[in-house]
Amino acid sequence: MKFTAQLGMGLVSATLLAMSFSAAAQHAFNNADKAVEYRQKALSIMQNNFAVMGDMVKGDIEFDGVIFTERANDFAALSAIPWIGFSQPGAQPGNNTDALPAIWDNWDDFVERAEQLQNDAKALQAAAAAGDQGDIRKAFMAAARNCKGCHDQYKD
Ligand code: HEC
Repeated sequence: MKFTAQLGMGLVSATLLAMSFSAAAQHAFNNADKAVEYRQKALSIMQNNFAVMGDMVKGDIEFDGVIFTERANDFAALSAIPWIGFSQPGAQPGNNTDALPAIWDNWDDFVERAEQLQNDAKALQAAAAAGDQGDIRKAFMAAARNCKGCHDQYKD
């Protein structure tokens, strides 16, 4: 038992040591290129969930309350994820992004829109759980307007 505990501690110190040797590692939270990659991937996965719901709202595929609720739950979780990828210093537009410089000139407005999307996503999640298709459609359209509004202002 004692031996196992010591072995465990040894592993932890070895891991910490390895981490301090790789202190220069570039990740999404200290590197602009990786921050761009992070936010684009997050937005893309968010869109995957949104698109399925859109197909159901438009009637392109049959409405299925269980699947819709699953997608609404994931959308609500994912709607909080991309935004950290915009706040990394140096994550301003380069060749690898469609984000416009206007974002950083109007940062408060951008953040407000990102927060509004999260509120819209929570409302959609609640509507999906309640199951009224009229309410679901309204909540979906409110979120969709927010996507478009932000893209019109801040996406190339
Ligand atoms: C607060 C502003 C804002 C909101 C709200 C927003 N987006 Fe975006 N979106 C952006 C910006 C800025 C980019 C460009 C990011 C980049 O290229 O660095 C983007 C890019 C994207 C991309 C492309 C990602 C890639 O692979 O390059 C998709 C897909 C996307 N958004 C989907 C959505 C959907 C769907 C919604 C609504 C449910 C939404 N966005 C809401 C700002 C927003």
